[in-house]
Amino acid sequence: MTTEPVLSVTGLWANYGATPILQGVDMGIAKGEIVGLIGRNGVGKTTTLRCLIGLLRANRGGIRILGKDMTGQPSDAFARLGVGYIPQGRDVFPRMTVAENLAVGELIGGPGGRKLEDLVYQYFPRLAERRTQLAGTMSGGEQQQLAIGRALIGNPALMLLDEPSEGIQPSIVQMICDALKSIRKELGTTILFVEQNLDTILAISERCYVMEKGRIMAEIPPGQVTSETVRGHLSI
Ligand SMILES: Nc1ncnc2c1ncn2[C@@H]1O[C@H](COP(=O)(O)OP(=O)(O)O)[C@@H](O)[C@H]1O
Ligand SMILES: [Mg+2]
Repeated sequence: MTTEPVLSVTGLWANYGATPILQGVDMGIAKGEIVGLIGRNGVGKTTTLRCLIGLLRANRGGIRILGKDMTGQPSDAFARLGVGYIPQGRDVFPRMTVAENLAVGELIGGPGGRKLEDLVYQYFPRLAERRTQLAGTMSGGEQQQLAIGRALIGNPALMLLDEPSEGIQPSIVQMICDALKSIRKELGTTILFVEQNLDTILAISERCYVMEKGRIMAEIPPGQVTSETVRGHLSI
């Protein structure tokens, strides 16, 4: 039996060019947790996720995922290990249909992918109705469901979501939050999500890391993720 966390980040530093952006990020997430990474614009939340899927190489510090040292690995190695990434702005393929977008997710996820197609349509029935529709013609909320479905179909152990509520109407955000909670409960998926929207943070996070200037400056522990604590940390 291992008690090692699904994700363990220690002293991570990363630059864009010569500018240091991440300046010693530390965090740990246990299996099945839903954790929020919150903070104001430009503090390094997206940069952190980019490091955790291998799109940006850290220049100091370590990343361990599912007991493996992933420091310096390319993004396909993260995907093969079971990390699913839903980028900020969603990034679905606009000229491909819903079904074709999901097929791309299957390729990324490897041979385990196919069996989860039905599950994706169960969690997001709207996608089933729109199987043959071009993704670029769908609403922001539908595209977000598709982006999550495309990651989910590869059966990830860890899902990283970057501002899933951005530009989406509140009722759809609530539905997506409920789906994420069911996914965690039924599939055991561990979830780390970046968010600035208070309602979304309150709706799904059990615990939050608060980022400021490229570092985790505070943690909101389980049971204390409330409107007051989150507002206090985000100064909103
Ligand atoms: N591709 C890039 N090249 C150079 N600087 C960048 C790039 N992406 C982001 N930055 C800068 O890095 C900092 C952190 O950005 P980001 O991680 O996107 O913040 P957040 O997601 O918290 O809003 C910001 O100052 C931003 O301007
Ligand atoms: Mg961002």
